[in-house]
Amino acid sequence: MESGGYRGLYVVVVVLLGYVHRGTGCGPETCPVAPEGLLNVHLIPHTHNDVGWLKTVDQYYYGGRNSIQHAGVQYILDSVVPQLLADPRRRFIYVESAFFWRWWQEQNESVQRDVSQLIQEGRLEFINGGWSMNDEAATHYSPIIDQMTLGLQFLQSTFGECGRPRVAWHIDPFGHSREQALLFAQMGYDGLFFGRLDYQDKKNRENKKQMEMIWRGSDDLAAPTADLFTGVLPNGYNPPEGFCWDQLCSDPPIMDDPQMEDNNVDAVLQLFMKAVNTQADKYRSNHIVMTMGSDFQYENAIPWFKNMDKLIKLVNAQQTNGSKVNVIYSTPSCYLTALNRANLSWPVKMDDFFPYADGPHMFWTGYFTSRAGFKRYERLSNNFLQVCNQLEALTGAAATHGPYGTSSSLTLRRAMGVAQHHDAITGTAKQHVNDDYTLRLYKGWETCQVVISNALSSLTGTKESFTFCNLLNISVCPTTETAKSFNVFLYNPLGRAVTWNVRLPVNGVAYTVKGPSGETVTSEVTPVSKFTEYLRKDQGTAKCELIFQAQIPPLGFTKFTVQKVSAQERFFTRTKKTNPTKIENKYYRVEFHPETGLISGIHNLEKGISLPLTHSFYWYNASIGDSESTQASGAYIFRPNQSTPQPVNQKVRSYLVQNSLVQEVYQNFSSWCSQVVRLYTDQRYVELEWTVGPIPIGDRIGKEVISRFESNLQTNGLFYTDANGRQVLQRRRDFRETWPLKQTEPVAGNYYPVNSRIYIKDKNIQFTVLTDRSQGGSSITDGSLELMVQRRLLYDDIRGVGEPLLEPGPYGEGIILRGRHLLLLDTPQSSADLHRTLGLQEYMSPQIILSSGDAVPYSSQQGGSNQFSALKAPLPDNVHLLTLALHEPKKLLLRLENPFQGHESANYSQPATVNLQELFSTISLSEVEEMTLSANLPKSKMNRMQWRAEGASDAHKRDSGFFLDPAAITLNPMEIRTFLATVQYRKYTSAGR
Ligand SMILES: *[C@@H]1O[C@H](CO)[C@@H](O)[C@H](O)[C@H]1NC(C)=O
Ligand SMILES: *[C@@H]1O[C@H](CO)[C@@H](O)[C@H](O)[C@H]1NC(C)=O
Ligand SMILES: [Zn+2]
Repeated sequence: MESGGYRGLYVVVVVLLGYVHRGTGCGPETCPVAPEGLLNVHLIPHTHNDVGWLKTVDQYYYGGRNSIQHAGVQYILDSVVPQLLADPRRRFIYVESAFFWRWWQEQNESVQRDVSQLIQEGRLEFINGGWSMNDEAATHYSPIIDQMTLGLQFLQSTFGECGRPRVAWHIDPFGHSREQALLFAQMGYDGLFFGRLDYQDKKNRENKKQMEMIWRGSDDLAAPTADLFTGVLPNGYNPPEGFCWDQLCSDPPIMDDPQMEDNNVDAVLQLFMKAVNTQADKYRSNHIVMTMGSDFQYENAIPWFKNMDKLIKLVNAQQTNGSKVNVIYSTPSCYLTALNRANLSWPVKMDDFFPYADGPHMFWTGYFTSRAGFKRYERLSNNFLQVCNQLEALTGAAATHGPYGTSSSLTLRRAMGVAQHHDAITGTAKQHVNDDYTLRLYKGWETCQVVISNALSSLTGTKESFTFCNLLNISVCPTTETAKSFNVFLYNPLGRAVTWNVRLPVNGVAYTVKGPSGETVTSEVTPVSKFTEYLRKDQGTAKCELIFQAQIPPLGFTKFTVQKVSAQERFFTRTKKTNPTKIENKYYRVEFHPETGLISGIHNLEKGISLPLTHSFYWYNASIGDSESTQASGAYIFRPNQSTPQPVNQKVRSYLVQNSLVQEVYQNFSSWCSQVVRLYTDQRYVELEWTVGPIPIGDRIGKEVISRFESNLQTNGLFYTDANGRQVLQRRRDFRETWPLKQTEPVAGNYYPVNSRIYIKDKNIQFTVLTDRSQGGSSITDGSLELMVQRRLLYDDIRGVGEPLLEPGPYGEGIILRGRHLLLLDTPQSSADLHRTLGLQEYMSPQIILSSGDAVPYSSQQGGSNQFSALKAPLPDNVHLLTLALHEPKKLLLRLENPFQGHESANYSQPATVNLQELFSTISLSEVEEMTLSANLPKSKMNRMQWRAEGASDAHKRDSGFFLDPAAITLNPMEIRTFLATVQYRKYTSAGR
């Protein structure tokens, strides 16, 4: 405690000894009254329910496979509810909506009534409330927002305002992102509590009493919009030592019979007071918090509540003897309310909490890349879900009930919500659990295929046999491999037109491709590469790939028809040559070293910028523990056994394939590592398509494979990585902004999550790499930049998962992955112009839907529409249509975003204005209401707690009031605005040209 007594006491209107629940509804007014002049200990009974980890979601819910881990979520809720009903002082919080939603469906009316009552009285309180407790490193902001919206919408529609969580609770994620703080702030949360941060950071904060702070989530949005009060919990999310009273624990219960030999009351009180005092020394206010629970606890709630009841009684009874400690049942929001009323000032935090380390050789930077294939599938699934959501919103009932059946986007939404969990997208679940996550996503794809087929039928006015080829990345698609003619629909989910290079596996040598008006479109046929043939094994038969360039209107589709022709000659217009030294189009030239075959330079021809640059693949030898530490590299932790990686090869065999549409250099690094360097005509970036795996482990060495670029840029230890696909943070090697770092792992301790982009720059040149999924990345030496693309490990890293990250893959020999890096070379002043736009295009790519061309007229729509846009005009370049989805029946959820940061682009870092009423061509909106980011509260009702920053005289004023004019929605840099509207479907006419 500060000298001079407790700071920030507040006047208690009703002074009660102990506390009595007043039954006046949920919210801060139901919080237990904390008596004046005492140190109040807030006990927070809670359970942490992973949405899959060692067991699948289903196994956790039902308590199946308890031999792996004893855990059954249904019993937890079954057990807690009667314990709460039995005593009005008791409280409990629940966090994961994916589980609560299931349990709720299974309860009868009388249980539902009791539970609703508990919620209305604030005794059972939802905290966080997303579908899952999402990871913060490998997650992309679009699915984070969606999964929070999904969970919160269920709570809102089921329990009303008392079901709206006010506090974010990320107690287990392995590091914390600044963008996540920004998103939470805009969802209306009053605060965030978490458990994990770097051990050096924690010690430093404890010493300085900076465990609680104001986290400023953005440089672009004015305070307090981006501010989030953030608290680090004292013991992760566990109880203080000696006070775990769950049946999963073995701490002694309170044995309080005075006659009894084993009476331990004095010992318990002593231990408790010690824990209280130790903790109070590290925090600023006269309130401290204790998390009374842990993973899957409270399956039997009796031992917990019975012992806490006794603890409260015993500790508080000491007050008559002058004790100043008061223990209460509480919740995170009651604790936060107490902190807010304490009227203190708090330190301000600007950077983030990455990377997380729990010891000198224990950096949790491996999971940035672990299960890199799943990380890509999740990103693709989000892409597909956005298309599904959009078409469902644009065509309404026609999408959910149509010629292909009855369906909706819900299955994929829920599967995506599960996939965001901090053991799912992170790659830190057991193999069988990860398989289950993948299967859930796949089932979601199937249901969305029905939605999309129905919607396309409605929009085109024809019914045809649509097929979805999900294996195009390995050139497999039965429809295009066998059909003499077929149709290609390309749907573009972006709010601006897109040019897209279509690539389809075929067996003919020449095809005629016709565009939406019957015009012939240039096409080429190129052989399927040896790399791809090896990769696809016995799936697919295509010998060639058909390539053509498609223009697709904003938020709409274009239909192409493809016809096989007998002509032979076009096939041979391509050239093939070995050891090429350069490729070039209008915008870029890539040079290759004549001896090694590696990339040796990149030129932006348009801007006249050249950068000598070497690219190659390397691998870090995964530590299995050594004399310094027994820590091995594993699913969570990255620990190379030396700082210098091994080159996969010093020299590659390479050849060039070239035609009028594309130039490709195939580089063969080894039997398990290859790359294509690609330049399409008109492409303003260089594309690298890497294929890595099966990573050999016959030598019993775990390998962590990186793609590394080395240049002579003077970077002075600086590099830049994005947070969740959005804002970019500056990183400095061997440095942390908030404490003097003692660096103990020169590589792993400098790795950061790269969700979508990483760059290095000097005064004149910026070199940017965009990724197609989350990966770990860094700049280990000045001028270099690297991304970890895949890892295969032989040892578990002892953080719980209990399996080495072996990923056997479909053939048991190790998984083979393929992915892309997009390279940009530009000035620092104009790099963002393209990397922002491309970043959006990477996660919201056009979807290819095929049909065998057997269209028959369908419904009353005019048939034969070959092109369609749901927008009246393209959106401005600095406006992104983030969400277009059905929310409740007939409500449309719309999010618009300015994807540019404040100072990164002279052209686009500007406010942009959109007229909502003039946006769509096929639907009209009315009763437009602006909502918080998670759409569970009208923005006008958002009333977040105010906090005073250290050094500032006043708490920031509330977010200022606003007046909504749907005809002029202004989006400032980095701003996202969320709307609910009533939608009417207009009859649309054929939009064919
Ligand atoms: C509702 O379910 C609870 C718990 O399973 C049970 O005890 C109770 O008897 C049920 N009530 C009715 C009316 O079925
Ligand atoms: C208060 O102190 C007295 C004297 O030490 C002791 O007898 C009594 O039991 C204490 N009361 C409580 C509630 O512990
Ligand atoms: Zn967890």
